[in-house]
Amino acid sequence: MKIFLDSANLDELKKGMSWGIVDGVTTNPTLIAKEGRPFQEHIREICGIVEGDVSAEVVSTEASKMVSEGRELAKIHRNVVVKCPLTRDGIMATSALSKQGIRVNVTLCFTAGQALLAAKAGAYIVSPFVGRLDDIGYTGMDLVRSITQIYKNYGFKTQILAASLRSPTHVIDAALAGAQIGTMPFKVLDMLFNHPLTDRGLDQFLKDWAKVFQEAPVAG
Ligand code: G3P
Repeated sequence: MKIFLDSANLDELKKGMSWGIVDGVTTNPTLIAKEGRPFQEHIREICGIVEGDVSAEVVSTEASKMVSEGRELAKIHRNVVVKCPLTRDGIMATSALSKQGIRVNVTLCFTAGQALLAAKAGAYIVSPFVGRLDDIGYTGMDLVRSITQIYKNYGFKTQILAASLRSPTHVIDAALAGAQIGTMPFKVLDMLFNHPLTDRGLDQFLKDWAKVFQEAPVAG
């Protein structure tokens, strides 16, 4: 599963990239607004930091305006993926942009039926929101499982990006469900590293080593 950071914060993106395990980035208008910088300039800067897909969302609500906005966003950098919401206009725009060779991430997907429409429209990515379904008493991951099955049944090429992941368990379950991509906030990615037995084991290894040797074998 590809790992994306769901963040527009440049420090977080730089740190994540330095670990060598981040494959791309998703942003949304809320995350961009938090940074308080000009949108296009900020996306360009993110593309300079991250080698991989960078989703940038349109804010128009009418199809033809989404298409114009999407075309402008796609010009920023070859790695930009235009994000359109799963509305009637968003699906129309997705279909038009996809036919023009512009890659679209259809966002705010909450049912398998909506995901079917995104695939039919030629979306490059569909984003089911796991955590927000959990928030209202559903099992969000069931949606990822259903979409995976439907896309497999018909050979749809649209990639499933599990979004609104809030914990390491969400990430593991998205991978088990077969999502091609999981996007997560920086703090969730950071938490994936942790296990007390890793810390305890390393501590013991280093203590045992130090009882016999004074330095690391390759230390200069
Ligand atoms: O980028 C969309 C999504 O990942 C948002 O997550 O936690 O705000 O529901 P959240």
